[in-house]
Amino acid sequence: MLRTNLKILFTVIGTLAVYTAVANMIPQVQSEVPEETAIGADATPEQLVAIGQELYEGAGGCTACHGLGTRAPDLLGVIGQVCGDRREGLECKEYILQSLTEPSSFVVEGFQPIMPDLRRTLSEPQVWALVAFLQSQGGQVTVTAADIPRAEVTAAGGQAIGDDGGAAAADAAVTDPVELLRTNACFACHQLGEEGVALGPAFETIGTRDAEYIRRSILLPSADTAQGFETVAGTMPANFGDQLTAAQLETIVRFLSSQR
Ligand code: HEC
Ligand code: HEC
Repeated sequence: MLRTNLKILFTVIGTLAVYTAVANMIPQVQSEVPEETAIGADATPEQLVAIGQELYEGAGGCTACHGLGTRAPDLLGVIGQVCGDRREGLECKEYILQSLTEPSSFVVEGFQPIMPDLRRTLSEPQVWALVAFLQSQGGQVTVTAADIPRAEVTAAGGQAIGDDGGAAAADAAVTDPVELLRTNACFACHQLGEEGVALGPAFETIGTRDAEYIRRSILLPSADTAQGFETVAGTMPANFGDQLTAAQLETIVRFLSSQR
């Protein structure tokens, strides 16, 4: 009797231990994915400005061209002042939005039409956050959460789930970096070990580049050209910003940064 009871007791303790161990593993796995800056439906203009600033200085890739002098117009401290006078009939907010989403519809005098259409790399909430941040540079912020289409405010980390939301949501489950490289066809042009094709730079030693550079190379492939690959520059697709969730992008960036 005692023995049976002990047996049951140990079974219960053993089962509990397994469950506890599994439960402890889950948050650890998740914490490998960085916090995403979700843009909620109740975001204040101040929060939008802050998110926009982060994008401007980081993953948005804007500083690859802006703020360097002659390649692109200076924006910081200026654009909020001039935005209302750039185009007849366009208010500041409308003009900035148009600059980001239809850049070729108006080209600032003295510059080349090289400004990328940000809809290819950023979600709509992210674009609006940038508009808010740019308005704050010398002007008044009139962007509010009401400007952001409801359907675009998603749980998937500020990354828009558009019409192809089903597929995007299904793929969002993939968190293994090599699997992400595989499913996003990076191996069609890059090599890692035995896998892939050596059209672009091999991934084995890519970690000699910093994370910032790698992130920009993925979001804005045309921003830099790897030495020795000038002849194939422009072949890397520019839509990975759309295709990957923020977390997947960071998983890839972190993995590639560690390859050295
Ligand atoms: C590859 C270079 C490049 C990148 C990257 C780039 N821009 Fe631009 N941008 C330009 C150039 C050149 C112009 C001026 C020509 C034009 O109007 O299209 C411009 C124009 C603009 C304007 C209008 C400026 C004015 O004075 O009217 C805004 C606003 C702007 N960019 C915002 C951004 C933001 C925000 C980002 C990052 C998310 C970004 N740009 C990334 C090159 C770039
Ligand atoms: C159709 C071919 C192609 C695909 C697909 C492709 N790339 Fe590229 N990639 C290139 C080429 C070519 C270069 C080098 C030329 C350049 O820098 O623009 C490059 C450059 C890069 C660089 C910068 C390397 C350096 O040393 O400067 C990174 C990082 C990168 N790719 C990551 C990726 C990732 C991650 C994916 C998948 C999500 C991917 N690429 C998909 C062709 C491709």
